[in-house]
Amino acid sequence: MKRRKFVKFAGMGVVGINLGLLTSCTKELFQDELIEDGLLFGKGRPPIGNSRNLLKRPQPLLVDNITAEPCSCDVGGGNSNVWAFNGSFPGPTIDVRSGDRFTKRFNNNLQDESIVHWHGMLVNHENDGHPIFAVPPGGSYNYDFVVNQRATLNWYHPHPHGKTGEQVNMGLAGAFIIRDDEEDRLSLPKDNYELPLIIRDASFDKNGDIVYNPRSGGFVGKTYLVNGTKEPYIDVDRAVYRLRVLNGANARIFDLSLSNNADFRLIGNDGGLLASEVSISNIVTSPAERLDLLVDFRGIASGTSVMLHDAISGWDLLEFKVGAKTVSNSISTTGSSISSLGIPVRTREFSFDGMSKINGKLYDMNRIDWEVPFGETEEWIFTTNGNAPHPIHIHGAYFQIQERTGGRGQLFPWEEGWKDTVLLHDGETVKIRIKFDTIETKGGTYLMHCHKLEHEDMGMMANFKVVP
Ligand code: C2O
Ligand code: CU
Ligand code: CU
Repeated sequence: MKRRKFVKFAGMGVVGINLGLLTSCTKELFQDELIEDGLLFGKGRPPIGNSRNLLKRPQPLLVDNITAEPCSCDVGGGNSNVWAFNGSFPGPTIDVRSGDRFTKRFNNNLQDESIVHWHGMLVNHENDGHPIFAVPPGGSYNYDFVVNQRATLNWYHPHPHGKTGEQVNMGLAGAFIIRDDEEDRLSLPKDNYELPLIIRDASFDKNGDIVYNPRSGGFVGKTYLVNGTKEPYIDVDRAVYRLRVLNGANARIFDLSLSNNADFRLIGNDGGLLASEVSISNIVTSPAERLDLLVDFRGIASGTSVMLHDAISGWDLLEFKVGAKTVSNSISTTGSSISSLGIPVRTREFSFDGMSKINGKLYDMNRIDWEVPFGETEEWIFTTNGNAPHPIHIHGAYFQIQERTGGRGQLFPWEEGWKDTVLLHDGETVKIRIKFDTIETKGGTYLMHCHKLEHEDMGMMANFKVVP
């Protein structure tokens, strides 16, 4: 992403298309437009009947190197020029246990500087992928840390300042799963019955190659990808499945539901299992948020399809084709204990201003805006003054959301438990409690930023330091 371009966008003041406008578009409208542009099926291939593409399942990361590089990768029904980790779009799935040592060398084979951030991992400053550690083209960076947190779905993506949006959009992102004994005891669906789903939007040019055309109000892709697959389907048994959902979009918010109107069993989110599961028919998820869902296909007639639907775009993101095999992997109620953070010792206020500032300031890599004493619970209050939605993300600790006033005026079941990202709409005030108490974070500099990646790149980000 060239800085010049951004300045120009920001200067325009008004964004051509914003997310609000898009919510009124129908799927049909989009498809017409895309077929007309030759965009929908890539490389000029005509659609074959109604058939969708088999959902990709990224392979586990088994090597010590993680390399960002251009790739001609399969995107479902053909190849596309993208940028990928180790030639895999999305990146290989990292699957570790709590307590494991994680040692990897990142190699930057892009044309621009880069660095990898392990989103949701509680690691020291040197391992956090802060933009100050970005390495030039041809450079590399060594990571070495011990996984010191409970089971959840995290993810990894580049974090170079001003270029994160482009690099993520071009394909650089992957799942980072942590497992632990507590989770094992629940006997949740595993192997074929556990499905990581990285959901995002994307645009492709007439050659079928991925293109990044940012807007200051947030990138708006013309189509959707699940695990880097256009229009995906997956064959499922009549069984319970565990869907590990990540909103991997730069800016798009999804409102997920199942086409048969069945409930999801929501069992976890950003920071792992909830205190108790919740049955719920639709879930709104903003960039970088994660969901742990159980979906029950046991009562569905074989030969029928269930769609994972997004009510905002109208897209059917994924088709589950239910087969004949019945598996009785019934899962009893799940839950975990969520410890209370206690009464905050101080309060800080943050206003997310315009599309590029926090408390009136643009990001400066070398400026520390506040210091947080290690081990003390604080209350942070988030407000905005237009140009939301802003999904606000904090590095170095998970937080608990206390309340939302104004706007939607409530907290939702998917906002319970431990979070690292919270969605703020215009008119909303959100209060969280946070405590930096993972030993590795002591003395480190961490980031708070809008995870609408165009806002982050334009400067809606701040450094703070955890002080002993
Ligand atoms: Cu997922 Cu600072 O980022
Ligand atoms: Cu992060
Ligand atoms: Cu924002």
